[in-house]
Amino acid sequence: MSTVTFILGDQRKTVSADDGKTILQIALDAGVPIEHACGGNGFCTTCLCRAQEGAEHLSPKNDRETMMGLEGEDRLGCQAQVHGDVTVEVVEM
Ligand code: FES
Repeated sequence: MSTVTFILGDQRKTVSADDGKTILQIALDAGVPIEHACGGNGFCTTCLCRAQEGAEHLSPKNDRETMMGLEGEDRLGCQAQVHGDVTVEVVEM
């Protein structure tokens, strides 16, 4: 199990989640509102998140994220899988 803390504006929510789920799946299960206009297929960037702690516990950036030109700790919530404790900021577009 992993612990994921979401930061959304000035609010924080911490939840437990099974390893291997995506940030988006975990957020939706927890009722954290993350946009996902393309349905989680890696085409829209509305699910953009920024890892603030524990970025090393996310899966490596995949081709879709690289194609979007994401830099640093910016990740697509629908593509990044969680494998340990992480704190992510939901980037509001
Ligand atoms: S939901 Fe569209 S890129 Fe993640």
